[in-house]
Amino acid sequence: MAVNSRISGFKDRSVAERRALVADGAGVAAAALSALDTGGLALDQADHMIENVIGTIGLPLGVATNVTVNGRDHLVPMATEEPSVVAAASNAARIARVHGGFHASGSGPVMIAQIQVVDVIDPYGARNRVLEAREEILALADAQDPVLVRLGGGARDLTARVLPTRAGPQVIAHLLVDVRDAMGANAVNTMAEAVAPALAERAGGRPLLRILSNKADTRLVRARAVFDAELLGGPQVVDDIVAASAFAEADPYRAATHNKGIMNGISAVVLATGNDTRAVEAGCHAHAARDGAYTALSRFEKDRDGNLTGTLEVPMPVGLVGGATRAHPVAQAAIKILGVTSAAELAEVIVSVGLAQNLAACRALAAEGIQHGHMRLHARTIAATAGAAPDEVPRVAERLVRDGKIQEEYARQALASLRGERA
Ligand code: MEV
Repeated sequence: MAVNSRISGFKDRSVAERRALVADGAGVAAAALSALDTGGLALDQADHMIENVIGTIGLPLGVATNVTVNGRDHLVPMATEEPSVVAAASNAARIARVHGGFHASGSGPVMIAQIQVVDVIDPYGARNRVLEAREEILALADAQDPVLVRLGGGARDLTARVLPTRAGPQVIAHLLVDVRDAMGANAVNTMAEAVAPALAERAGGRPLLRILSNKADTRLVRARAVFDAELLGGPQVVDDIVAASAFAEADPYRAATHNKGIMNGISAVVLATGNDTRAVEAGCHAHAARDGAYTALSRFEKDRDGNLTGTLEVPMPVGLVGGATRAHPVAQAAIKILGVTSAAELAEVIVSVGLAQNLAACRALAAEGIQHGHMRLHARTIAATAGAAPDEVPRVAERLVRDGKIQEEYARQALASLRGERA
């Protein structure tokens, strides 16, 4: 079913109304979203996921609107504790939407497993002998996962290099595996462990570490979009965002914060869909330092019509099968809302949201500053902390913003005076 992610007035609805709109918009039965009521994870389910469980922790799950990727609309679930993130992503997606939304593509779901071989007498000869055994090693790897092979995945390549280290030269082999719709950690780690003895025997050394690399640069996903100059606030804002982008490209101190803004979007969708936030974050930051110096992951430029173009490319090892994506009821609901049918499509939406988030932060920073919008939302949290009931929160927050005093004590006074007026 074709989804329309443009739902006007979405933010002003109640939680129940929003959920009904999302179910309707995504073509999902309301019952499929019932897991969202309780945070979706029963204690016995949690107890099976990790060790020493004593409870669960809840996080807000919001939905970003206006997102179009490769001509298809998506309502995008985002799990985050940070105010303004969901609103900012929706707003940036709206600015991209008038020029066709996001265009995304990927290099394919290929993961790297590393096999470290030590105690090698002739590392260069060993490297050659390992490469001569390519077909045998790939077949051995494939034999570990016939299901993956049947689905069209499996071992694709074997590389090897001599790595000079302070513990002497080591032979490092990379097994490249197409993991299809899985994140792939289990599949490639199993293969790495299975092929390591044969590989080390060829090398005449001892196998040591056998584990995937989170620098997943054979699983790159890129997104681009044109952001309308007028909706951004005019030509000066476009030029200032380009200057902000150049700052982040040139300075690692700024790049870390610029990239954190990207991860605000990426990690929120990765988490909502039950994927591994740490794997994705490690991959993104490794990619940001791929040329030896840490830099911005995105680029903003001005096009010939004066609009702003944004591009982002990052490794995106996420899956639709296995792990918490299957086990967590909220992740299952999130996948249904997203309406994606492959891990590649999920990755493309995630990277598009990262770009939207980045644009929103850079726009706010280059225009009115980040605190303006942030403090408005923060005021709502302060109002609730001061004891305001849900129907009182907007009025109390409004008072805090108007008086420029976003403080808990002042919120208590504002609440008391609001209740006095109502009595
Ligand atoms: C805050 O969570 C993220 C920002 O600092 C990102 C940025 O500075 O680009 C606003």
